Amino acid sequence: MTHFDNIRQGEDNIMAGQPGRIDQFLLMHSARLDNWREITARAEAWQAGSIERAELDTAITAMEAVEGYYAYPGPTLFAALRERIAANDAASAARLARRFSNALLTRSYRAHPSEWDLHSERAADEVADVLPPGLEDGETRRPYCEVLFVSAQPAARWPALADEIRRLRRPEDAFVYEPVFVGSFEDAFCAAAVNPALTSVVVPEGFPFRSRFDAPVLRAVLETLGVTDDRETSALRLAGALKRIRPELDVFLLSDRRVEELAGDPSADCVRRIFYAVEEPLEIHLAILEGVQARYETPFFDNLKRYARRPIGTFHALPIARGKSVFKSDWIRDMGEFYGINLFLAESSATTGGLDSLLEPTGTIKRAQDLAARAFGADHVFFVTNGTSTSNKMAVQALLAPGDIAIVDRNCHKSHHYGMVLSGAQPFYVEAFPMTEYSMYGAVPLATIKRALLSLRADGRLDRVKLLDLTNCTFDGHMYNVRRVMEECLAIKPDLIFLWDEAWSGFARFSPFLRPRTAMGAAADIEAWLRDPASVEAYEAQQEELGDRPSDETLLKTRLVPDPRTVRLRVYQTNSTHKSMSAIRQGSMLLVKDVDFHTVAAQFREAVFTHASTSPNQQLIASLDIARRQMELEGYGLVMNAIEIALKIREAVNTHPLISRYFRVLGADAMIPAEYRPSGFEDYLSPGVTWADVTRAMQDDEFYLDPTRMTLVCGTAAFDGTQFKGLLASEYNIQLNKTSRNSVLLQSNINNTRSDVAHLIRVLVAIARGIEKRLAAGGEAERAAFDARVQSLMTDVPDLPNFSRFHEAFRSEAGTSTPEGDIRSAFFSAYEASLCEYVPLFGAECDRRLRDGPDMVSANFVIPYPPGFPIMVPGQVLTQESIDFMRQLDVKEIHGYEKAKGLKLLKPDAIMTQHDAAAVSAPGKRARVSAAGRRARAA
Ligand SMILES: Cc1ncc(COP(=O)(O)O)c(C=O)c1O
Repeated sequence: MTHFDNIRQGEDNIMAGQPGRIDQFLLMHSARLDNWREITARAEAWQAGSIERAELDTAITAMEAVEGYYAYPGPTLFAALRERIAANDAASAARLARRFSNALLTRSYRAHPSEWDLHSERAADEVADVLPPGLEDGETRRPYCEVLFVSAQPAARWPALADEIRRLRRPEDAFVYEPVFVGSFEDAFCAAAVNPALTSVVVPEGFPFRSRFDAPVLRAVLETLGVTDDRETSALRLAGALKRIRPELDVFLLSDRRVEELAGDPSADCVRRIFYAVEEPLEIHLAILEGVQARYETPFFDNLKRYARRPIGTFHALPIARGKSVFKSDWIRDMGEFYGINLFLAESSATTGGLDSLLEPTGTIKRAQDLAARAFGADHVFFVTNGTSTSNKMAVQALLAPGDIAIVDRNCHKSHHYGMVLSGAQPFYVEAFPMTEYSMYGAVPLATIKRALLSLRADGRLDRVKLLDLTNCTFDGHMYNVRRVMEECLAIKPDLIFLWDEAWSGFARFSPFLRPRTAMGAAADIEAWLRDPASVEAYEAQQEELGDRPSDETLLKTRLVPDPRTVRLRVYQTNSTHKSMSAIRQGSMLLVKDVDFHTVAAQFREAVFTHASTSPNQQLIASLDIARRQMELEGYGLVMNAIEIALKIREAVNTHPLISRYFRVLGADAMIPAEYRPSGFEDYLSPGVTWADVTRAMQDDEFYLDPTRMTLVCGTAAFDGTQFKGLLASEYNIQLNKTSRNSVLLQSNINNTRSDVAHLIRVLVAIARGIEKRLAAGGEAERAAFDARVQSLMTDVPDLPNFSRFHEAFRSEAGTSTPEGDIRSAFFSAYEASLCEYVPLFGAECDRRLRDGPDMVSANFVIPYPPGFPIMVPGQVLTQESIDFMRQLDVKEIHGYEKAKGLKLLKPDAIMTQHDAAAVSAPGKRARVSAAGRRARAA
């Protein structure tokens, strides 16, 4: 067994023959298929006489416990397979194993009742089965799902109970579900963890806690979630635990006593409905279907489809609507043929007829947004059709007014910086920890953020700070301990607003391994804590310990507890739904969980009016609605699949004897300095690591690495990031996005399959083989050139420049010891040619100015790609560090820098003169401006 098996418990379990382990949390679709293929291979080998029956028995026994959590093949068919083996009928056992394996692979069991019939030998090898079932017979297939029934009845009764449930099906049901039975708390928890097809759970009172199977990892995971065997095992407690790992599941409680009391219990809020157990099963059946329908409903998309079916004459703009000018044209008909008629039938510039207005939604868009709020755990959602670039600007504009201070990660996406320009807010830039070796930044340490708040407090300016604005996860996968950051900041400033740019990690909501590290996941945890009376005690105990006037050093060292009585929980999240879910490009959402939203609702309306197009794309809005539906119904499995694919890539690259000679995917140990990993977690691939360790790291560590974001080091193969990206795209049809000086970023997402992994691995093998060949053929000189290139990419890396400072000309409103500045004035100063000058980046003039002054002050943003963060912002004083970095950059794309003209600078003296003139006409400002002017001139 490799160490990877510990975390991917399952795939090799079957080989190791560990019987009855149930805590194989990543035994998702593809790994399970591998197990079934292995069973089939062993059955066929037994049939051929090349292995003993015992080898097949071992494999079957190893799978049995976990197979109990899936409807197909389910206990009856599984028992039939065992019987055939016991009867020494090798041919029939091999046939049956192959049939199950193929049905799982093609998902045909979801559409064909014959797959469930032991006696129908419906050829599992039928070619039609390799097509998705819905495409086979022209008939619209009803979506299939599975429902978990926890039962205190003996397992022998479960097949009969399942039959009773199946008899409730009616032709008019919109969905078909299969029941899955389990008998304990632990089994229910594991089934919910491993079976992504589950949409609902029915829980009665009175069942044991412990599974009859072994589950050491499960018990460790449950412990980190605070669930142990020492309390009463109630249905409500199980409901709570299930909702913690999969909030999108519907949970129904059955009770034959005290239903009224249960219904009034606040912890029953997470339950969809409570039934008196002896009530008609049909009601439960209908409630299950209604619950699925509530997630399946897509108000805007449903209505758009209805609209497209109506015969409508259009006398407004948008001639493309209905497609007549396209399909009748000799010249652009191929457009119609390429996109299909529905695109045109579903186009309209109307906002009536159920199409609603994105600017002031009251109908189907409003309802779709409300459903998205439910799915993502927010109070409100804004759909945005110009990407998160726009969502960020909307949030920043709505939350900040001129002069407000925002603590911002300097390394964040440019939309935040431009948002500051728009709003006139003063950014107080904070720095992420540098990863100089890879020419990238990590995330901002909490100590840096707390220090910023404490310095503003010392300066008497805490009231001016409105917002903390951070990127989570970062491009490269650093996830904050979101809850801890918010709690500790709220302990210093109880009404601080948080904006989490989760452009990359909207999908994280649907994984229990990532959700607590998201804005909405953490906000829900804090909300629950605020409601708990123990929170006030915890606060008061800490206050007593800290005493009257704790020093900043003490506050920095302490994990601060906020005062639950004064906290105003105000959390915003933006996400590029198109980056991690099934939305069309530019589809984005802005999520709101803000107890004081009513105080800023009007500002958000203005932000929508400012930024939303008056002609938003209907298909884009519909895709946001659909992406939400998909994530609520199958997001859990899809995200698990993305994680599983990532772990496969990580293992394949790092353990392949040839690939690993030149390439490496970085683990948490390389991406996150040890001081931010108190749990000691190093990597998903480290020896002995289990999901319990992962859960602990996720809970405790300051930063956590999203496994789906893989930094592949290519400098060790003598490629710089841009070059390697180009090679993969042009020669091997592999596209990726971000690069650094010596790495590229691979991302797995809900769309990836094992074939993609196979393709990538083959390509890396081919490239590594090519390098070997070249080195072997080129002799000493080739080897020396290769080593020199690797050295230059991996060792001779430029230091990353920190933000220097705003020029005093833009700090008239700033504190004396804090670094914020008026970025907007600087930005607009550049509109006046007389205030600007150009200095060549390379040349004596630049060096002289650095040495003797006057200060060089950037007139605009300068953003090189990669790495993609602004090394200069308007109003920033250029330092030797930033100039050195610019000079060493060997990238082609530098936004805001024209090589032919040089650096665009503001003339600070001219600006100071202008400010002085302004001060005369605005005497209130005179003192501050003159002081700033004196400081500037002195400097
Ligand atoms: C952190 C971050 N925020 C926001 C954006 C912008 O998102 P969009 O492309 O949806 O406009 C990006 C784009 O790469 C990003 O990396």
